[in-house]
Amino acid sequence: MGKVHDYLAKNGFEEVDVTFVMEQIGTLLVSSSTTSEQSIEISVKGKPLFLPSDKATSVALVVNELIQNGIKHAFHTTAVGKIEITTNIRKQMVNIIVSDNGDGMDHSVYAQNSSSLGLHLVEMLVEEELEGILSVFHSNRGTNVSLTFPITN
Ligand SMILES: Nc1ncnc2c1ncn2[C@@H]1O[C@H](COP(=O)(O)OP(=O)(O)O)[C@@H](O)[C@H]1O
Ligand SMILES: [Mg+2]
Repeated sequence: MGKVHDYLAKNGFEEVDVTFVMEQIGTLLVSSSTTSEQSIEISVKGKPLFLPSDKATSVALVVNELIQNGIKHAFHTTAVGKIEITTNIRKQMVNIIVSDNGDGMDHSVYAQNSSSLGLHLVEMLVEEELEGILSVFHSNRGTNVSLTFPITN
């Protein structure tokens, strides 16, 4: 994580490429958690996306949590897990989608379980820090988390 941290710690005026940051985090998390019974592939799609380093740091925390959730929770019955991150910009709005082809989540979990700190942290970062909107979709074919926020303050 040192390299990622150094890159994000640039002074606030400097913009950092979050597509690059998400690739670094994803590769690191997946390579350190894949076991012999389970393979997980991660891909990051989208052009370089430059954001002020404070916003980029929030995005990095969010994506870090979502990838870890995929690795930890999604693939109990899936032999080849796929986690895909796509980024798009349209009309000064950034959209980032983190999706997996796993089992999907138990419907009750996200809404009611106050002990699920991770997703509540994600929600807080997206709504408070990024001033954006978070949506979570899930089915028995996987989970799909989408965040949309303005590129400028
Ligand atoms: N990608 C996912 N696939 C399946 N289940 C998930 C996924 N992400 C989250 N969950 C479910 O939602 C719960 C809450 O997630 P989270 O708030 O991050 O808490 P934690 O990861 O600490 O359990 C998880 O315990 C898990 O049951
Ligand atoms: Mg979690």
